[in-house]
Amino acid sequence: MRASVESALGERPAEEQFAWMSWAGTVWRLAADGRVVYVKRAAHLEGERDRLAWLAGRWPVPETIGFFHELGDDWLVTHAVRGVPMYDPSVGWVPDRVAATLGAILRDLHATDAGDCPFGEKRAGHVLVHGDYCLPNVLVEEGKLSALVDVGQTGLGNPEIDLAAGVWTLQYNYGPGFARTLLDAYGWPPMSDAAIEKLRRKYNSSPFMGRWRPKGAGGAASKSAGLWSPRPASSTRRRSSGKDGISRPRPSGPSAR
Ligand SMILES: Nc1ncnc2c1ncn2[C@@H]1O[C@H](COP(=O)(O)OP(=O)(O)O)[C@@H](O)[C@H]1O
Ligand SMILES: [Mg+2]
Repeated sequence: MRASVESALGERPAEEQFAWMSWAGTVWRLAADGRVVYVKRAAHLEGERDRLAWLAGRWPVPETIGFFHELGDDWLVTHAVRGVPMYDPSVGWVPDRVAATLGAILRDLHATDAGDCPFGEKRAGHVLVHGDYCLPNVLVEEGKLSALVDVGQTGLGNPEIDLAAGVWTLQYNYGPGFARTLLDAYGWPPMSDAAIEKLRRKYNSSPFMGRWRPKGAGGAASKSAGLWSPRPASSTRRRSSGKDGISRPRPSGPSAR
């Protein structure tokens, strides 16, 4: 894994940068000489690797450099994509614009010709869903989508899976009141407030909920999460049990979801 990362960075020592820790694993961003790669570590990443391969050429997604099984975990190394996650303050959009853009991108994603998609379940009403359609997983540049990341759950599924995530992530980041903009931009039939809240809670109760992101790179978390320093795999999966029995990490920093 290390050799693959170093060769992708041009044989230069990487400037290590902690990026993100979630309930399921850890993601590092490594840069050298203007080249940037991402290293994702988690128990199972074959699904994400296979979906990245299928999505390539259909949707802008990270290009895989290598896939490894080391220290008891899977490691997926990808080239950095362009753009920044939609929640990033540098995007500079008012929440309504974020919501409308999120809805328009989702409408296009769900309209993908995906009859041959080997992932998910092919049945009436199912479309190509992202599977974790929250702001950090949608990257934009110059006002337009630049990439989708975190595609481990992508496949044929109920469009409400992504709509629920979209409604949830908007409320989480900006407070209530932006769901309708998302749904209208998507072209979803009008919904009552109660129905929107029910939809939002569908994401809330999903196992993907509860990730957290330490503020900025180089915080306390980064010191204990050195990419090249071997440590027990269990240290990447600190969890506590929520009231619904879902394992999730103890939030110790503001999340971006
Ligand atoms: N190849 C990549 N290029 C650019 N940014 C990436 C790439 N891979 C991951 N990221 C960034 O790291 C964050 C975490 O990666 P992600 O795959 O979403 O992990 P998680 O499953 O923990 O949410 C993403 O939200 C994105 O900001
Ligand atoms: Mg993510």
